[in-house]
Amino acid sequence: MQSSDFGNDFLWGVATAAAQIEGAANDYGKGPSIWDTFSKRTGKIKKGHQPTLACDFYHRYLEDIALVKTLGFKVFRFSIAWARIFPLGHGSINPEGVAFYHRVIDECLMQDLVPMVTLYHWDLPEALSKEGGWTAFGINSWFNEYVTFCAKEYGDKVKQWIVINEPFGFTSLGYMLGVHAPGQTGVNNFFDAALHTAIAQADGAKILRAEVSSAVIGTAFSCSEVVPYTQSAQDLLAAKRTDALMNRFFFEPVLGLGFPTSDWEVLEKFAISHSTWRHQERMKFDFDFIGLQNYFPLVIRYNAFIPILQAWEAKAKNRKVPHTAMGWEINADSFYRIIKQFASYPQVKSIMVTENGAAFHDKVIDGKIDDRERIEYFEAYLSAMLKAKNEGINITGYLAWTLMDNFEWAEGYQARFGLVHNDFKTQQRTIKQSGYWWQQFLSK
Ligand code: GAL
Repeated sequence: MQSSDFGNDFLWGVATAAAQIEGAANDYGKGPSIWDTFSKRTGKIKKGHQPTLACDFYHRYLEDIALVKTLGFKVFRFSIAWARIFPLGHGSINPEGVAFYHRVIDECLMQDLVPMVTLYHWDLPEALSKEGGWTAFGINSWFNEYVTFCAKEYGDKVKQWIVINEPFGFTSLGYMLGVHAPGQTGVNNFFDAALHTAIAQADGAKILRAEVSSAVIGTAFSCSEVVPYTQSAQDLLAAKRTDALMNRFFFEPVLGLGFPTSDWEVLEKFAISHSTWRHQERMKFDFDFIGLQNYFPLVIRYNAFIPILQAWEAKAKNRKVPHTAMGWEINADSFYRIIKQFASYPQVKSIMVTENGAAFHDKVIDGKIDDRERIEYFEAYLSAMLKAKNEGINITGYLAWTLMDNFEWAEGYQARFGLVHNDFKTQQRTIKQSGYWWQQFLSK
């Protein structure tokens, strides 16, 4: 397998996110985000790590963009920190923040890289969180103001856009389970946040369509094949509910299908209480591409003790299957199947894999960062993707997660997903063997 097997137009890139790499969290006019405040709460982030400095990308973006180029990628995906543009979430603008993203975009263009912008990668301005954040009725107009600004400001230079990163990820972890920012819990918070997010992802796309000529517009979903633990009726139903929640819940509304209520009465009650049918048209958008992000399959068993979902994961670590340092199952066949699942909807025009990658306990051998497990991972996952592509699925690109080790949300700096090693004490970047593997792969 070589990269040219995917065709000459295939978009190979790396993905990053502002809160995970930028640092300068309190500098140059930026307002605090929910991750800045959440990480200060005791016990929320492993080892008490905070994203204040992260990879210091704010000051080192030239070096980092040069690395993207050195590794041979074409696309650099990064996100805009909403609170760097609007320190209070809406209203007055921070010119220094606006200028920073111009510098990043201009450098990409100088290096002949395609800048791909994610508008929302989880770092909501804290000021908006105080007003209820994604659960608040006002969020849709605040979000639209922010998107309109970015589209007008950067639309001449940026053509590739992702509206929202993994709506299920941040609404479930941040508003239901409380393990991500802003640390809220409860099913009501989740459903309120979910409805506003489903509206925002289509609203944002419509704004981009209106403001940016020849924009290529996508939005990115967390996609995990859901496998029942046994063939018992209880496990099968538990898997079905989990699939509806984790894969279909935010995806089907953009296709015009509304929320997937028929398979699960809890979702039906949500739909009734929130009159979601009134928003069905507004939640719909004909995306140019669907961003598919895959990290693991989920093996699901019935569990009566879990409220509402009555299902829980049979963890990879406990099942003696190969897994990453995060305990996530490594299974390239499952990646192939989840691509097929998302591509099976006739409304989907194309799929771009906007994130895929793995954390390992990288070793230093003879002065080199020997991460052969990551190389094997990419080899297996890319050939699974090639199989799907050769069967006729319109896959337009693949973005590896991620350029360099960074602030991995609640895991802090411990989980290392990078193709480039970062020493967080010195900010020294060192290309891992997997980075060199990519360089070779992309040269052919
Ligand atoms: C995704 C997320 C990324 C990154 C990755 C690895 O869900 O979008 O920001 O953290 O997981 O865990």
